[in-house]
Amino acid sequence: MDFLAAYDAIPESDAARRVALLRQRMKGDGPALFRELRAARPVFATPVGVFVTRMPDVVEVLSTPDVFTVGVYGPTLEEALHGPFMLARDGADVHWHDRGHAQLMLPAEDFGPVRRLTARLADDALDRAVAEAHGQGRTTFDYIQEYAAPVAARVAVEYLGFTGVDERTLHRLSRRVQWAVFVNPDRDPEVHASGVAAGKELHDLVAAVIERRRAAAPGTGADGGPPKDVLDRMLRTVLPPGAEMDDERINHQLVGYLIGYQQNATQCAATALKELAARPDALAEAERLASGPDPASFDAHVWEALRFHPFVPSTPRLCVRGHVLAAGTPRETRLAAGTVVHACMASAMFDETVVEEPYAFRPDRTPVHNMVLGHGAHDCVGRYPARAIVPEMVHRVLLRPGVRPLPGADGAMDYAGTPYPQHYTVATGGAAPS
Ligand code: HEM
Repeated sequence: MDFLAAYDAIPESDAARRVALLRQRMKGDGPALFRELRAARPVFATPVGVFVTRMPDVVEVLSTPDVFTVGVYGPTLEEALHGPFMLARDGADVHWHDRGHAQLMLPAEDFGPVRRLTARLADDALDRAVAEAHGQGRTTFDYIQEYAAPVAARVAVEYLGFTGVDERTLHRLSRRVQWAVFVNPDRDPEVHASGVAAGKELHDLVAAVIERRRAAAPGTGADGGPPKDVLDRMLRTVLPPGAEMDDERINHQLVGYLIGYQQNATQCAATALKELAARPDALAEAERLASGPDPASFDAHVWEALRFHPFVPSTPRLCVRGHVLAAGTPRETRLAAGTVVHACMASAMFDETVVEEPYAFRPDRTPVHNMVLGHGAHDCVGRYPARAIVPEMVHRVLLRPGVRPLPGADGAMDYAGTPYPQHYTVATGGAAPS
């Protein structure tokens, strides 16, 4: 049965059943649900908020932060980080300032060095995973646990500056915070408490790293050479009076970057490979480009693959004053202050009224139609490192002819009861020694 027919058949008074059906369809077949909503009810009011599914309306919500704020998850994020952070606030004080600071700390110039760093760490992880598998008589390994998660965490240690922090600890703690802040719609108290405690652990680990650096080089925490990593850059930067970042604020920035990055990079490296493997022509073309002279064309395959499975399919915003959405269109909707609005980016990227042949795999699309890194006032401020890390993790795999998802198991990703994929079996590409 079509979703809307089934939904409308449930009495309006039975909000719990309506929400349960919505969540079941969202989880079971989000793309089909969004397709139906875009066609029949593009601005869809439910007991858990208004779902906005068409590209212009998603752009409107995400580009109007004085009306649509991050107030839905902001307080939890700040509780977990134990202080202010840009993705928890809107307006001049924290958001504008800290985002400006982050743009300097995560500059476009990092793209090349971060790509080379990722290549080295990825090659090393692949060597280890294949050798360990063969050593144990296996011809497969776990792409997420043995490759994507450790590579992402090692990049966090070497590039962001989590020096000396155990990579498994980084991954585990960042997952707990991500889960509590962004994927806990009913505010389950256990998930919430676990995320807040994990945030405190990360805060204390980073405080110890900063203390060690300050002790090693009093004053700046630096030894006079070029900045070693992002933390080093933050510790050395002298900002004008009134705009300073003390060590506590630097701590929140660094932990916040990790929360915005670790699970995202791990999942994207896996789902991009999965989406390519599900399309043999696209996979063959990506394999050809992987060893060619045109990295931009290769990368476009990865970002197009992620359009079909983005890490953030929708992001909630709190409407803080009355607003007419999609004014002057047939979708015009008056939203009251206090309404939660879900900007469904996974739907917008398939809006057939804007995006040409949305269901075709087309790496030549304009980047404007790709919202994998968000959109508007809070779009990904880590976009330059993200654009290096995610494609390079997939690139290193495709350079190894046999390391591929198992045939027929393109979608077989095991979430192990969490919101994020935990296991994905791939072939090693060689025979285990007998
Ligand atoms: C690896 C893949 C990545 C993906 C898929 C990704 C995705 C996103 C998305 C979708 C948003 C918007 C969230 C929203 O509107 O609610 C976002 C924001 C953000 N990302 Fe990323 N991100 C990635 C990497 C990174 C990296 C490497 C960093 C930093 C080192 C980072 C830091 C941030 C921060 C701080 C924000 C909030 C910006 C603001 O509030 O103005 N992300 N990211």
